[in-house]
Amino acid sequence: MTQELIDSSTQPAEPSQPQFVRWFRQVAPYVHAFRGKTFVVGFTGELIKADALNTLVQDLSLLSSLGIRLVLIHGSQPQVNEQLQAKGYQQQLTQGITPIDAAALECAKEAAGEIRLDIEAAFSQGLPNTPMSHAKIRVISGNFVTAKPIGVIDGLDYRHAGQVRKIDTDAIRHSLDSGSIVLLSPLGFSPTGEAFHLTMEELTTSVAISLKAEKLVFLYENPGVTDGEEQVIPELARLDADALLRNQTQTDHTARYLEQASRAVKRGVARAHLVPFALDGAILLEIFTHDGVGTMVVEDTLDDLRAATIDDVGAILRLIEPLEQDGTLVTRSRDVIEREVENFSVLEHDGIIFGCATLNHYPEEQMAEMACLIVHPEWQGGGEGDLLLRHMENRARNLGVKRLFVLTTRTAHWFVKRGFVQGGVSDLPKERQAAYNRQRNSLVFMKRL
Ligand SMILES: CC(C)(COP(=O)(O)OP(=O)(O)OC[C@H]1O[C@@H](n2cnc3c(N)ncnc32)[C@H](O)[C@@H]1OP(=O)(O)O)[C@@H](O)C(=O)NCCC(=O)NCCS
Repeated sequence: MTQELIDSSTQPAEPSQPQFVRWFRQVAPYVHAFRGKTFVVGFTGELIKADALNTLVQDLSLLSSLGIRLVLIHGSQPQVNEQLQAKGYQQQLTQGITPIDAAALECAKEAAGEIRLDIEAAFSQGLPNTPMSHAKIRVISGNFVTAKPIGVIDGLDYRHAGQVRKIDTDAIRHSLDSGSIVLLSPLGFSPTGEAFHLTMEELTTSVAISLKAEKLVFLYENPGVTDGEEQVIPELARLDADALLRNQTQTDHTARYLEQASRAVKRGVARAHLVPFALDGAILLEIFTHDGVGTMVVEDTLDDLRAATIDDVGAILRLIEPLEQDGTLVTRSRDVIEREVENFSVLEHDGIIFGCATLNHYPEEQMAEMACLIVHPEWQGGGEGDLLLRHMENRARNLGVKRLFVLTTRTAHWFVKRGFVQGGVSDLPKERQAAYNRQRNSLVFMKRL
């Protein structure tokens, strides 16, 4: 999907019909993959202060209407500080863990109440001309979080600043099952009824872990995790994220969120995202585009190359079908693919299959045919074809194959550039010669492994 199609602030022009259809088709696999999955979204009080709440709520309503189960956690630091100032108190909350005295706790409760009402109001508006006009979204809040005091650290008493002790996952799941969005404030209660102020980032992470969420998303002020040239890193393996944290390459603010993202992924949340809220539609871009707009932390890198299983047959067929129709590939029935599925490898990104290839082994001749090498058109040109080829070469080597061949009608140059040389039908294994389709007249290319 091209970013400019959704980022209306930079591309006001209407998409053309073919662009629109292309965009719609590209989004469809994500919609399918994320239906029924739980996303836990934490956003800072700065987002609300920057008047970005209404647009975020529209985007979240859209996600909810696509069947994504949403738990939202709002921050409140600037709003608490405003309350403190308005009441004439000197102290201000700093980011991260900060001591909370009685006045700050009162202000935190008041700020949470106001923000909660603003969010509920935003979800209730049936404004015409918004993407979610006429949608009815229910928001449920409740005493879902048990907290404990942080206590005294290095002689400093954190008083009403707390940590998560337990999340009532059953109650949250029950609300999600009813189709509602769950909204939590950064406050928790001890079993004796005492209130504690929590950090939004710790609460969001704890909720995501306890619900075993598919995604944790932080919407915050910074662009995401950046490299030495200030470029946003789209994807980070957790171990690399931990190394960046050790080397202190990030701002304190990003480091705090990255630390939580790493914790979440380590404890079983599939993906954790750091996304800038300043960009219109940032959460949609992050979720529905291949590279996203912020940083995604995963346990392993996201582009996963693996042997196919029977569950991948549908996705493989969807990749092959357009190429069969235009004559690039020979037709293979579902039966054949089901039978031979273990010969396939697939390239998966964030749960979406976007590339495949298969290997037919001829052990007697120590040869193998690589076929059905496909990268989805949207992701071609990024080196994925090369990645698949190298993977298939390794698979072949592990089988003791000495020569890998391909039959192609339209992709000859691609293979030649990658070390294949043209051969003839007589170079093929006997069994393959017999099955050679002379009408199709494919060219034969070989590579020594
Ligand atoms: C062939 C294919 C798998 C390559 O995937 P990919 O991810 O785009 O590959 P890479 O990013 O590693 O390589 C891209 C390069 O190959 C070139 N290329 C793509 N298709 C090509 C073709 N049919 N013939 C020659 N070169 C081609 C691109 O122009 C690009 O060149 P550049 O690097 O000089 O800009 C992909 O184009 C595809 O799925 N094609 C349709 C199916 C097919 O023909 N399969 C092979 C038959 S078995």
